[in-house]
Amino acid sequence: MTSQEHSFSKFSRNDFYEKLNSHLVEMAELDSGQRIVDLACGTGGVTKLILDHLRDARDFVVIAVDHSASALKQAMEELKGSKDAAVQFVQSQVEQLSESLKESVDTIVFCNAIHYIPDKDALVKDISKSLKPGGKFAFNTSFFEGSHPPETLHYYRKWMFKAMRILRREYGLSPSREKKVESRKHLTPEQYKDLLETHGLKIVKQEIETVDVPIDGWLDISAFEDFVTGVMPGVPLDKASASLQEAVRQTFEEMKLTYVSRSWLGVVAVRA
Ligand SMILES: C[S@@+](CC[C@H](N)C(=O)[O-])C[C@H]1O[C@@H](n2cnc3c(N)ncnc32)[C@H](O)[C@@H]1O
Repeated sequence: MTSQEHSFSKFSRNDFYEKLNSHLVEMAELDSGQRIVDLACGTGGVTKLILDHLRDARDFVVIAVDHSASALKQAMEELKGSKDAAVQFVQSQVEQLSESLKESVDTIVFCNAIHYIPDKDALVKDISKSLKPGGKFAFNTSFFEGSHPPETLHYYRKWMFKAMRILRREYGLSPSREKKVESRKHLTPEQYKDLLETHGLKIVKQEIETVDVPIDGWLDISAFEDFVTGVMPGVPLDKASASLQEAVRQTFEEMKLTYVSRSWLGVVAVRA
């Protein structure tokens, strides 16, 4: 089970991150009477933003879905204080959303997780099946073809090189080759468009937003279990995280950086 220290919660509270997710939620134009899914809700950061946007709305239901029991538990804790919140929590794979829902829904918000899903075709097919006609699918990701501005590539190379060196020198460890996760294929915005259209979803809004991610963002992502195990498979979480964080500090210092830019693709599509 993920400890809170290695959960997504701390990263998700970064100001730049809340702003860009909030912007996607705004683009989805949530309203009274809707059934809304927060898909891959994690520790509930986006669920909270959805509830904030629905502050003046009535008779809505938010269904927060994730496959991680520990993330859901933390989301429940964090949302306990939200007044009048009609939130249901469902543990499910995102690829099996339609099976987990009793009825179809008006809106599905899917933040920062589409890139994790290997079979995006099956995923989008199931998402489309889960929506009412006219229902909306809103997603964002910072792992698409174009998400890493070319001038930042040097930063990533330096950061990873240093992190591996620190891991070897300080702890005598290296990531396990056998446990290496298959690197994720980044889709272009056009490929996302085709994928959505294949399953009857028409894009009504699309934006690419480039944000300046400060050092805290990189330090916090270096503590998030899913990220750390992806970069340093087989390495104990604490040691991997400490190496990545020290490497972030050294790289920012050496390159005299105050931020590193990263682009997010945000899309809203409507089911015909
Ligand atoms: C980076 S977090 C994003 C959390 C939140 N949506 C946000 O934007 O802040 C990714 C989440 O996706 C969940 N996840 C990844 N693959 C999944 C899958 N196949 N089914 C369900 N949840 C999944 C993880 O458990 C994690 O909580």
